[in-house]
Amino acid sequence: MISDELLSLRANPSDIEELYPHKPLSRRNHVLKAQVIGRFIDYFPFVVLFGLLGILWDLRPFEDMSIYIKLAGTAIIFAVFVWWIYIIFIKPQFFKINSLHIKTETLKNPVKIALMTDLHTGDKRFGSSVKKIKKAIETINNYMPDIFIVAGDLVDENFNELAMETLSELKKINCKNKFGVYGNHDGFHMKNRGYKESPRDIIKFVEKETKIKFLGNKTKELEIKNNNILLAGVPDLGGRLASIDKTFEDIDKSKYNYIILMSHNPDIIDFLHESDEVDLVVAGHSHAGQIAFPIIGALLPLPSKHKRYLKGLFDVGGKTNLFLSQGFAHASTRVRVGTNTEINLITLTK
Ligand SMILES: [Fe+2]
Repeated sequence: MISDELLSLRANPSDIEELYPHKPLSRRNHVLKAQVIGRFIDYFPFVVLFGLLGILWDLRPFEDMSIYIKLAGTAIIFAVFVWWIYIIFIKPQFFKINSLHIKTETLKNPVKIALMTDLHTGDKRFGSSVKKIKKAIETINNYMPDIFIVAGDLVDENFNELAMETLSELKKINCKNKFGVYGNHDGFHMKNRGYKESPRDIIKFVEKETKIKFLGNKTKELEIKNNNILLAGVPDLGGRLASIDKTFEDIDKSKYNYIILMSHNPDIIDFLHESDEVDLVVAGHSHAGQIAFPIIGALLPLPSKHKRYLKGLFDVGGKTNLFLSQGFAHASTRVRVGTNTEINLITLTK
């Protein structure tokens, strides 16, 4: 059962309010921003392509061109068309398996973590389907993780039948230790935009259906292969309920070989201190920029404050590493260019 504390705590309000000001959007604004801009990005190349074809047809500059230039032009237009069809309809159905090892001196034996973030279920456009999640679960079960983590954005906008059907699949993950935190899309995000659902409904459903336990400003002690691990989780920063102090209150950290913190938003590192002794923060939220390129970076504005944290592993000071998943699906648009959806198979090892 979800604790009421998860949704009613408001610790460190001044800090969080200052860094994450509460700016509720009206449903109308949201529709304009997410739906219109999203669809514009989805179909922008087609608009350009057909516009270009219209101009060419009108001006007929090709009548005096050589056959080779005409063929090359046709091939380029056709290639862009096929590439974009792949980007919006085919690519989202597949995910990458991102395996990595994180070195640590403190564990007696290696520990395997399977991580999924940003599932964005409930809308087929954003690349989360029952078929895709089944494939991911098969991969995760073959990996035989010691800990399974789902780090927020379980749904996109609507906690509907499709979202329930997709999320129910998570019950098939064979792992004794299944934990999660919720993301901005799961609750306050929706409430702020005039939807009825709250994260409470989603968390209750997922906890009951899949036995994944959500941690909100709470910790869980795990005995895994002679290691004493502390797993902590905080609510999404957007709801301003996250509290590191509350999470580690009365915890004797010297008892543990390794401390992991789950947070949907990587910006939680703003509230971490060295004295918190967290070894690893796992997060998502950024979708690696979703449309992003090496050197140039993300083309769309990132939802997190720390713009350089797109994906992968970062040393964020002290002994703390931050790991950001690219996420299992998308938001706002069908499109990912320069980034991929993924699941993460992390091995903590000497
Ligand atoms: Fe997300």
